Amino acid sequence: MTEKRVPKHIGIIMDGNGRWAKERGKPRSFGHKKGADILDSVVDACAKHGVNIVSLYAFSTENWSRPQDEIDTLFDILRKFLKKYRKKLLSDKRRLTISGDISKLPDDLRTECEKCVEATKDFTNGTFNIALNYGSRQEIVYAVNRLIGKGKTEITAEDIQSELYTSTLPDIDLVIRTSGEQRLSNFFLWQCAYAELYFTDTYWPDFNEEELVKALDWYASRNRRYGGIENK
Ligand code: FPP
Repeated sequence: MTEKRVPKHIGIIMDGNGRWAKERGKPRSFGHKKGADILDSVVDACAKHGVNIVSLYAFSTENWSRPQDEIDTLFDILRKFLKKYRKKLLSDKRRLTISGDISKLPDDLRTECEKCVEATKDFTNGTFNIALNYGSRQEIVYAVNRLIGKGKTEITAEDIQSELYTSTLPDIDLVIRTSGEQRLSNFFLWQCAYAELYFTDTYWPDFNEEELVKALDWYASRNRRYGGIENK
């Protein structure tokens, strides 16, 4: 029997928090809180099923257009999450990386991010990558400008790869987007060039190990060809 194919790197677009809360007659922030509460168990479930790198879309460059109180709540949730999760990362020896321009975040949140990244940077038991104030087009433009700044006049794909926030990570193999929306929304466009895209109607706060296994089984059934011919 051949071994089940497991993605090395999963990207998750956690969508549907607002609708989940609305269905319960609660404010949107209630959905975001629940969405953060389940993160730990989802990352653990990923590790249990052999996926050691997980990238999560926490706040996009477009999310600044949300009402200020929702932005403040999201930052507050993130701040609390990181404070608590740092201990878990240290005991699991899992690395935290951040993709995005954190210089625009409130000072204390930025400091919390930097502390977590620094404290876990040498760990090798998997990577938990949070996309925070992240936009893929901006990332690619930033990478190209860095290369120009270094005096490059001809740029290769490897050069760009080396300047991405995810330069130390492999490409994303599987994207999971919850809540029925079927688009990438500026999420790691470069890194998802060959990713399988999995969409589920489940809202993010209801996502769990069972849902993850469904996505992993679906992934295992896909025949990835990378532009080549069918691999029988
Ligand atoms: C999309 O749902 C979700 C977000 C923009 C925020 C995701 C953030 C969290 C789950 C919490 C914090 C994250 C971490 C890493 C601690 P939506 O609000 O667009 O939902 P809707 O489409 O139903 O309105």
